[in-house]
Amino acid sequence: MNHGRFPDIIGKKKQGLALSDEEIRDMIADYTAGKIPDYQMSAMLMAICFRGLTDRELTTMTMAMRDSGEVLDLSEIPGVKVDKHSTGGVGDKATLIVGPMVAASGVPVAKMSGRGLGFTGGTIDKLESIPGFCGEISNREFFRAVRKNGISIKGQTGNLVPADKKMYALRDVTGTVDSIPLIAASIMSKKLAAGGDKIVLDVTTGSGALIGDLEGSVELARRMVAIGNGAGRETVAMITSMEEPLGFAVGNRLEIREVVETLRGGGPEDVRIVCTALAGMMLSLGKGISYEEGKEQALEALVSGRAYERFLAMVETQGGDVSCIEYPERLAIAEISGELLAEEDGYLAGVDAGRIGAAAGILGAGRETKESEIDAGAGIVMKKKVGDRVRAGEPVAVLYTSQEERLERALAHLRGCCTVAGEKPEPLKLVVDIIR
Ligand code: URA
Repeated sequence: MNHGRFPDIIGKKKQGLALSDEEIRDMIADYTAGKIPDYQMSAMLMAICFRGLTDRELTTMTMAMRDSGEVLDLSEIPGVKVDKHSTGGVGDKATLIVGPMVAASGVPVAKMSGRGLGFTGGTIDKLESIPGFCGEISNREFFRAVRKNGISIKGQTGNLVPADKKMYALRDVTGTVDSIPLIAASIMSKKLAAGGDKIVLDVTTGSGALIGDLEGSVELARRMVAIGNGAGRETVAMITSMEEPLGFAVGNRLEIREVVETLRGGGPEDVRIVCTALAGMMLSLGKGISYEEGKEQALEALVSGRAYERFLAMVETQGGDVSCIEYPERLAIAEISGELLAEEDGYLAGVDAGRIGAAAGILGAGRETKESEIDAGAGIVMKKKVGDRVRAGEPVAVLYTSQEERLERALAHLRGCCTVAGEKPEPLKLVVDIIR
């Protein structure tokens, strides 16, 4: 691009005009190469925040971002590969259950997962809380593991979508993180680079979600589905509730214990319902069957123990200590604990999931900066779910940490985070909508 022109292109977007494919591709390539300075890109991102992008502009931008780095080719793994992504939530351990359910039903799962900033670690941090488990494997080892077990989950490679790394860092310091089209491009560029043939998106909504209100969550889902389909990858989004933490456990090892419990046929009902829905949709896309049939097959894989066997095989192949899965009590939990107590009698009517997540972060379950260390044994176990009867003085949650001072801070953060009502509330709808 002639860089004298870039201010004109910013001006075009400022007026709400659509940019051409060439303008968008040049912008992404030149920004990634350092030829467009941060101050100009900041102005463009802000113009996008106010003026938005058409579906065409958004798909072009996302594909240009995808092409800024390595694009994984999964073609040497036989079969239709269906990827899954969650926009994140508190206690969201779904990938670790859904992946084995799908693999055990005959659709290969070759999944790259991020490490989390924020509340708790990402999926890879959760897996690496199992002693010995290695998420940093080469593509060769990854493909071999998928061929052997039908499933492997590895950390994102360093050169995946460098355009997003630069743009996200800039958005973070220019007040442009919360733009729906920019979030959609950021997420979908990484999904498209990860090489799946089809994509199921879990777009969470509620107090613990990236976007709290349903309207915004549906809009994000709609934009991401349009990008995926526009890029030639069949994409379906499921809007799921994050009005309270998913399951009881929040924190890396605590969540792995809950994953094992669920894969053995027990575990919390909401986890089982959400995971069956997501796995059912992945099987529907992967096998060309109905969503209902997909859910039946996914549930069968769970109750028969076949999904558990896949999880065990994946942990073993990636170096994890399988005895910690067979005897999950061997996964050490942080030693200092404290209780969050109900203040009155009644029914639990609401839990601020965002605050539960933030408190888990304070306890040490997450990382504040890319460099900080996670305390794998820290976190929170909810003792009550929305709709349960509570009595004043009864524990609503138990907190675990390795540092006394963190416990005090987390308990202070949680004061008033639960609402108790005299009437039993309506049950939460877990799968709120499906966007195709
Ligand atoms: N997750 C991403 O990967 N990007 C965003 O912009 C927001 C959430």
